[in-house]
Amino acid sequence: MKTRVLGKDLEVSAIGLGCMGMSHAYGPAADKKEMTELLCKAVEKGYTFFDTAELYGTCENPHDNEELLGEALKPYRNRIVLASKCGIRFDESSSEVNKPLIPDGRPETIKASVDGSLRRLQTDHLDLYYIHRIDPKVPVEEAAGAMKELIDAGKITHFGISEADEHTLRRAHAVCPVTAVQNRYSMMYRDYEAIFPVLEELQIGFVAFSPLANGFLSAQYNKESKFEKGTDYRSVMPQFTPEAIDKNEEMLRYLKGMADRKNATPAQISLAWMMAKKPWIVPIPGTRKYGRLIENAQAADVELTEQEVKELDNMLESVPMSEVFGGSKIKK
Ligand SMILES: NC(=O)c1ccc[n+]([C@@H]2O[C@H](COP(=O)([O-])OP(=O)(O)OC[C@H]3O[C@@H](n4cnc5c(N)ncnc54)[C@H](OP(=O)(O)O)[C@@H]3O)[C@@H](O)[C@H]2O)c1
Repeated sequence: MKTRVLGKDLEVSAIGLGCMGMSHAYGPAADKKEMTELLCKAVEKGYTFFDTAELYGTCENPHDNEELLGEALKPYRNRIVLASKCGIRFDESSSEVNKPLIPDGRPETIKASVDGSLRRLQTDHLDLYYIHRIDPKVPVEEAAGAMKELIDAGKITHFGISEADEHTLRRAHAVCPVTAVQNRYSMMYRDYEAIFPVLEELQIGFVAFSPLANGFLSAQYNKESKFEKGTDYRSVMPQFTPEAIDKNEEMLRYLKGMADRKNATPAQISLAWMMAKKPWIVPIPGTRKYGRLIENAQAADVELTEQEVKELDNMLESVPMSEVFGGSKIKK
């Protein structure tokens, strides 16, 4: 697979593998043996960028995902970039499927978290370590300072922040250079295009999470699609309601048309569209299925012209579009 560079020097596969869904948010955790095989195949097929977090898991096993990756990717550790995240936990008192998040960006929490992640990921360093959400009670400079100490100690090599705006990035970057921001970005959620200029200025890469709008942009879902209520976030995501399926029909029709013209799939067009915008944007679609893992990887070879990107942008600005999931609530 082609590669891209995040920040000054972090080389990653042009498409990364978001691993969250193997353990969390898309129904009960997947079979460990199957996912282990899938992760090995991902390496064989050129994925070198793997995304996890300390809280991707289940009630029974809250760190399932890091444990899975640690075991499966151990043989390939020196060939891959491992990214994890710290600084939030779930509000376990909530009965919602997507439980509210409680941010905790205290330096002592960050330092304790990294040791747990290193142990579960069976490694002595993380290549990219993100603050998962900004804690409004802790000045971001303090969290960035803790990250700088982790770099100095050799426990991490690069610092990132997830769901950060320009102001936060500037403040954090002044304390410890930020290599990548990881924010939600897809054809249905484009708010963070506003921070492209500051990312360019500070040489910060953009890792795009939920790049397929949680799979919706693949055009593989319809009114008959069923999602398990207690464990699958898609059961409450606004883009998957029957009304939204109707409202988004024109957009998906257009996307399928472009896909046919380019001999690609709607998912590949969605990924190629964002990659055409900037050379430092790296989507990390997630999947449990081998065929989709290959399909998504091949999006790195789908080239859209400037004119085609403009056409897609114009379409996105003019067609009806439903609401899209914007993330779990953050508990104040
Ligand atoms: N920083 C954060 O706060 C944050 C938040 C959310 C996610 N993330 C990261 O971003 C990664 C990806 O985000 P995401 O999982 O929320 O959304 P996504 O990548 O947009 O969508 C994943 C969903 O799409 C389906 N899918 C993937 N490729 C497909 C294809 N080619 N055709 C049809 N369906 C396809 C998958 O189902 P199957 O498994 O059935 O293929 C899965 O349910 C996560 O794994 C995680 O690492 C980070």
